[in-house]
Amino acid sequence: MLIRRETASDTDAIRSITTAAFAPGYPPGQVPPEPGLVDELRAGPAWLPALSLVAATPGGEVIGHVLCTRGHVGQDPVLGLGPLTVRPDQQRHGVGSALMHAVLGAADALGEPLVALLGDPAYYRRFGFRPAADYQITAPRPQWQPHFQVRVLNGYQPGLRGMFTYPQPFDRT
Ligand SMILES: CC(C)(COP(=O)(O)OP(=O)(O)OC[C@H]1O[C@@H](n2cnc3c(N)ncnc32)[C@H](O)[C@@H]1OP(=O)(O)O)[C@@H](O)C(=O)NCCC(=O)NCCS
Repeated sequence: MLIRRETASDTDAIRSITTAAFAPGYPPGQVPPEPGLVDELRAGPAWLPALSLVAATPGGEVIGHVLCTRGHVGQDPVLGLGPLTVRPDQQRHGVGSALMHAVLGAADALGEPLVALLGDPAYYRRFGFRPAADYQITAPRPQWQPHFQVRVLNGYQPGLRGMFTYPQPFDRT
């Protein structure tokens, strides 16, 4: 497996694996919103090309994808992570972990202060995520707080606190 930046020719494969990975979480026949969210993010101002990564087989097949986009804590720029996607037939082989380590390392190298996400703490704590409340950062919706997590990076300063806001397409999803 190789981890590399997304290119224009990966768009269809990303849409397809995102649909396949998220479809089981919705009633049969319902189109999951996550592939459309990725497309909207890519077309908008919050997109950060350096932080949209794919996992590909040596033959070039895309089997996983992760992205961070521009969010804010108060007025300060930070990162929001997601969706994270691994093609269902490739899950539980370390692809998701490899993508997470790669995107966190890339974000750190860029001098970003922190990455926020909504997800299962049982999965994300292994990557250094902690409840956002530990850093006095609040979720955009109070009911998310138990699953709202933050991973601080080298650019983090303790004065960075307040409410996190995702880029706009997340609000419509
Ligand atoms: C979540 C996901 C990206 C993990 O990718 P993966 O390649 O299977 O992950 P890895 O192989 O690196 O890690 C697998 C481990 O994560 C655990 N895991 C996966 N999803 C989990 C979850 N939601 N909660 C807790 N643990 C989880 C597995 O149990 C496994 O644990 P183990 O190593 O102790 O057995 C993948 O399952 C996926 O695409 N799911 C559907 C989309 C999704 O829910 N994305 C995340 C929200 S944006």
